[in-house]
Amino acid sequence: MDLTISILYGSVRSERQGIKAAKYLEKRVGERGIKTHLIDPLEYQLPFLDKMYKEYASGEAPAPMEELAEIFRASDGFLIVTGEYNHSIPPALKNLLDHFQREYLFKPSAIASYSAGIYGGVRAAVHLRVILGELGMPPISSMRPLPKIEDKFDENFEPKKSQIDRSTTRFLDELIWYAEALKAKREKGVPF
Ligand SMILES: Cc1cc2nc3c(=O)[nH]c(=O)nc-3n(C[C@H](O)[C@H](O)[C@H](O)COP(=O)(O)O)c2cc1C
Repeated sequence: MDLTISILYGSVRSERQGIKAAKYLEKRVGERGIKTHLIDPLEYQLPFLDKMYKEYASGEAPAPMEELAEIFRASDGFLIVTGEYNHSIPPALKNLLDHFQREYLFKPSAIASYSAGIYGGVRAAVHLRVILGELGMPPISSMRPLPKIEDKFDENFEPKKSQIDRSTTRFLDELIWYAEALKAKREKGVPF
């Protein structure tokens, strides 16, 4: 089944490390023949939330918001790559997520988290799970925590240790299973 997965990344820091995790996951999803969009808030430069996308009249949303809405509408699942800032998610990620709503509905999400420390951002991941549920993109059971992010990947975004791929494979298997299942079900209609 043809699938499109959007990978949402949330750090805009000049020395951000998590982009390595986002690019690694983009590669691994792409290697399965799935179309990917890596959404980097630095590229789209959404303002701090004023109006949500749905609050604009048709055709009047700012161009980057319109572009994102189109990408999200065409996506069959969302892979969210979150760092951990004071035990929660980065503000640019929350800002990006909050701009949209309908575009997420009845599509699965999966959380990859990372941090400089040994816990791999799991506290932020747990917060994010609640947010994704509210947004209507139910999170899958598996999470993919990546501790000590600075030193995890080489310059080609390949993991330095082979075990890293093992957990990633299982994590992506689950996301893709749900993405295929929900896509087939969406094609028969959605409850609202
Ligand atoms: C504002 C801020 C808060 C942070 N809070 C945490 C934290 O609660 N737990 C943690 O493990 N690391 C924390 N860190 C360290 C981050 O895990 C580390 O800097 C990581 O690289 C941030 O992701 P980024 O580089 O993609 O922005 C924090 C970093 C920043 C900038």
